[in-house]
Amino acid sequence: MKGEFDHFMQKEIFEQPEAISSTMRGRLVLDVLGAAERVMLGGMSQFAATIRRSRRIILCGCGTSYNSAIAIRQLFEELTELPVTLELASDVLDRRCPFFRDDTCIFISQSGETADTLKALEYAKAKGALCVGIVNTVGSAISRATDCGVHINAGAEIGVASTKAYTCQIVAMVLVALSLSEDSRSKHTRRDDIMQGLLKLPGCVKECLKMDAILLELAQELKEEHSLLIFGRGFNYATALEGALKVKEVALVHSEGILAGEMKHGPLALVDKHMPIIVVCTNDGSYEKQQSVVQQLKARDGRLILIVSDDDTEMEKTAPDAVILRVPKVEDCLQAVVNIVPLQLLSYHLTVLRGHNCDQPRNLAKSVTVE
Ligand code: UD1
Ligand code: M6R
Repeated sequence: MKGEFDHFMQKEIFEQPEAISSTMRGRLVLDVLGAAERVMLGGMSQFAATIRRSRRIILCGCGTSYNSAIAIRQLFEELTELPVTLELASDVLDRRCPFFRDDTCIFISQSGETADTLKALEYAKAKGALCVGIVNTVGSAISRATDCGVHINAGAEIGVASTKAYTCQIVAMVLVALSLSEDSRSKHTRRDDIMQGLLKLPGCVKECLKMDAILLELAQELKEEHSLLIFGRGFNYATALEGALKVKEVALVHSEGILAGEMKHGPLALVDKHMPIIVVCTNDGSYEKQQSVVQQLKARDGRLILIVSDDDTEMEKTAPDAVILRVPKVEDCLQAVVNIVPLQLLSYHLTVLRGHNCDQPRNLAKSVTVE
């Protein structure tokens, strides 16, 4: 089952180029010249008009699935021009959130069986909201209970740490955002750029996987550390959170994903010459702000590891001592799919080097079917 790989987590990280292609297969329709022309989501077409008329869109899930919602929020806001809010499924139930008939709630789940997400779905249904699923497992409870949805078709995910489901969830939701905005003339160019970017995405993820040996080396350097901070913002706030979740759940190292804009509001106090800090600073609308974050972390002697775009020339001048990880540059809203790959590889290698079980981390189950 694991083939050439030692662990399911490793296999699933390396399967991502193929898994992402499967998510898009038959849905990103090409013209005769092979360019992406439009998006066709069989399961959503009947409901698209209702979703466009919603008062707001609510993205809901747990753990990694919730992080994928964070990664996609900005694009949903941009393309649908609707308010988009995020909800952790357990919190929906704790707060008895005000949901309404004219809300669209999108429930994201790899397993489709997570108790909190399923209960939040039942709650939203009882309030009369339109319920949409973004689910990997066909025939699962969430897939069956939603009004409509998209199967991400990532293939079975066995490792407890979610990897390929995360990237495929983002891609599936990019397709949803594209399909909801297909009538918008003003967004034609942006939509076209994203569609052509999607076509290149599996190749860019494959490119990133070639960094495996570099990440093994970095894991060797970091394996005795007790804490790791990861800063991101904008489209890559989710990358920071998801990278930190991977490091803590499998490598059993304390790690915190931090919105870089919050740095001066507390986290900066943790920074000294011993603290390893990863900053996601690929080239997008947040680049200059991230450059300033890097300068400030450097001024406090932080041990910096920077994830930068392959054509970047500035960051290594800003922080000459930093470890630089170069990733392929893609459309800004797709960059999170690429940027998470080095962090998945790092957490995998840290886990193995520290002698832990990455497929069955202590105290965790693949599917959390009780509240
Ligand atoms: C479907 C078929 C696929 C076939 C394709 C051909 C299934 C599961 N999928 O894929 O095998 O190749 O047509 O046109 O038979 N749904 C939910 N909630 C969810 C996820 C999905 O209600 O969380 C619903 C959808 O609204 C849809 C159905 O399940 O009615 C299948 O969804 P999906 O597999 O995403 O649809 P297609 O990509 O059209
Ligand atoms: O199956 P789901 O996507 O609903 O699961 C949600 C979380 O339990 C899951 O993502 C969990 O956080 C993973 N162990 C993260 O790797």
